[in-house]
Amino acid sequence: MKNKSLVSITDYNRDEILRILELAAYFEANPVQTLLQGKVVATLFFEPSTRTRLSFETAINRLGGRVIGFSDANSTSASKGETLKDTIRIVSSYADLVVMRHPLEGSAKFASEQSRVPVINAGDGANQHPSQTLLDLYSIQKTQKTLDNLTISMVGDLKYGRTVHSLLMAMGHFNPTFNFIAPDELKMPNEYKRFCTKNKIKFTEKSDLNSVIDQSDILYMTRVQRERFQDPIEYEKVKNAYILRLSMLSNARPNLRVLHPLPRVNEINIDVDDSPMAYYFEQAENGVYTRMAIIASALGVI
Ligand code: CP
Repeated sequence: MKNKSLVSITDYNRDEILRILELAAYFEANPVQTLLQGKVVATLFFEPSTRTRLSFETAINRLGGRVIGFSDANSTSASKGETLKDTIRIVSSYADLVVMRHPLEGSAKFASEQSRVPVINAGDGANQHPSQTLLDLYSIQKTQKTLDNLTISMVGDLKYGRTVHSLLMAMGHFNPTFNFIAPDELKMPNEYKRFCTKNKIKFTEKSDLNSVIDQSDILYMTRVQRERFQDPIEYEKVKNAYILRLSMLSNARPNLRVLHPLPRVNEINIDVDDSPMAYYFEQAENGVYTRMAIIASALGVI
């Protein structure tokens, strides 16, 4: 996978996904490395981030590499009108790898076409978040001991939630059953339902969260993404659509784990945090090991 950009989760086939998960397990057991000695990685964050940026930067440091970049585009020449094309052209002459988050869908693909070095998509608008998906898969595999034949209930903002879009496509390799739980305004977009139909992936669409909990192996909660709404009144209507509380897990399967890409607002009540079924903080930690695997693979250093 040397010099291979990761723009969409579909850039990796099943074997490549499994190889990343195997490498992530290796890096979890062996987190201090020198594989990136002499390498520079640029992290370009045109949108806010806590986990993705800091776990990528931790991963680079743990691999022995150096980081350049920014977390606020207002501090860069983009604020003076410099184009993304020019920014990528310049940065890719400084760094061996570019990690980029940008609000525009398709920006990561565009950047990969302009760049002299591989580009990792750290989230492009409501489109894709493939490194999140790989850490989600790693978390699912760790907790369920398999990726095959699982029932995954995706809850909340399925329209704008790029993490559910990428996860749905990746799980397509592993014969999942999906329950899509969303208010009418935030339903799973038709293109992803068509993907399921085309690939013979079973799914249901429901509005009642309680009706799917006892059938699920994974409950994948998501935040309603206020920043993607044009009309604040529309956001107000749906912002409290689903709130998971500890009492709702009383009939859950013992293996059920609650995942969330985070940040959360109020969609998981804090009384869930101490439940053995809550896995979202460990999930975020798994991001470091998975991103070590993604970086090492993209640079061909392992
Ligand atoms: N999961 C995720 O993308 O979190 P951040 O927005 O904090 O990076």
